[in-house]
Amino acid sequence: MEKLAIDGGTPVRTKGPIVETDYYTDDELNEVIEVMKTARVRRGSVTVEYEKLIAEKLGVKHAIAVTSGTTTLHIALAAFGIGPGDEVIVSPYTFVASNTCVLEQNAIPIFADIDPVTLLLDPADIERKITPRTKAIIPVSITGTPDNIEAIMDIAEKHNLYVLEDAAQSLGAKYTGRYEGKYVGTVGHVGSFSTVTGKILSTGEGGFVVTNDDELYEKMWGFMDFGRKKSLGAASKYHWELPITNYRITELQSAIGIHQIKRMDFLNEKRLENAAYLDEKLKGIPGITLPTGVPYGDRVYFYYVVRLDPEVLGADMIDFSVALASEGTYNINYLSTTRMMIAQHLQPVFLNKAGYGGTKCPFECPLYEGKVEYYEGQCPVAEKAVQEVFWLASVHPLLEKEDLDDIANAVRKVALAFIDKKEKGIPINYASEEIRAIV
Ligand SMILES: Cc1ncc(COP(=O)(O)O)c(C=O)c1O
Repeated sequence: MEKLAIDGGTPVRTKGPIVETDYYTDDELNEVIEVMKTARVRRGSVTVEYEKLIAEKLGVKHAIAVTSGTTTLHIALAAFGIGPGDEVIVSPYTFVASNTCVLEQNAIPIFADIDPVTLLLDPADIERKITPRTKAIIPVSITGTPDNIEAIMDIAEKHNLYVLEDAAQSLGAKYTGRYEGKYVGTVGHVGSFSTVTGKILSTGEGGFVVTNDDELYEKMWGFMDFGRKKSLGAASKYHWELPITNYRITELQSAIGIHQIKRMDFLNEKRLENAAYLDEKLKGIPGITLPTGVPYGDRVYFYYVVRLDPEVLGADMIDFSVALASEGTYNINYLSTTRMMIAQHLQPVFLNKAGYGGTKCPFECPLYEGKVEYYEGQCPVAEKAVQEVFWLASVHPLLEKEDLDDIANAVRKVALAFIDKKEKGIPINYASEEIRAIV
């Protein structure tokens, strides 16, 4: 049995952990230089061109580029007319932005549970959570897997709800079945994408919404740019009819985005190849379940996530990740940030009903006629998933075979050593109190 690095053995890798990385070429660089030369960098014709290319690529009528995959969600909910007193059904297994966007409109996020295998919102639980106050559903195609969109659209139609697809992690994934060939994010009333570093397409920071609905487009455009009316052009400049926001992106990000969207298929192919390579290298390790596709469409890969079985491995995900970090392939800091260690309904913002201005508003607000509580046991499937689903690696296109080998070898080494220890009755306790407190 190979001695683990954390036990004083030789680490699998010494050249640094594998982290999210963007893939730019000279095309992006040259385009950015050209934009700089124009000396006009705020939103303009380059962004309009970027939006046109996004809409063409995804086969939709409209796209609007904005500052992030968080502000995308906000303008969509604002355009739906969501406000105080309304409820929006959200996922407990996602990044917090998918849920706090609801608070931005002073509405109430209501968590439905997920499916234990796909980690996607469970339509049956969505239905159970619907009340007369429900106005929208935000399904999240987590890690790149298409949602059960047929069931979700049926529920939405039955109850007259909006669907906002949070496709931040799944640009390029496609649905099969009734929506055969349509991209994830293009079936709901609005699709939301993130282009922050590490995502399938990156502009450093950024995001975009897509829709086929002219009215929603006009409204979202307004929320992107001080409530202006796009259809009125310059004449709309001082028509402040709404509480306003400014979520404009710069021409620099759009210049990068133009080349990234043109390479979307290539970038996804590389990610799929990397994931397939990891599948091969990681198969057959006891206690490690590999990611799969879903029956609703063709997935892409934002992250490669595995499910750890604590019974088989004799330790939990935190001990596992600490041992893996010592092997040099994994950065332990990632565990506590975006690696979904807490089910979203148990995040302090919800548990404490931490509202605006130090109040409990909108959770407890005279305009809200319901009563909301967030508590342990509310979404048991998600609560278990956060303990066992391990976000092993970004499978970004710049990874070399050697990097993937290192990832797989480290996982195999740690898993087999843990199982060996378990069999010998050696307790595993690598995670310090300090690390446990962080995650
Ligand atoms: C599912 C999901 N939704 C929303 C966001 C927010 O995107 P951004 O970081 O661009 O604000 C992210 C990622 O960061 C995400 O993964």
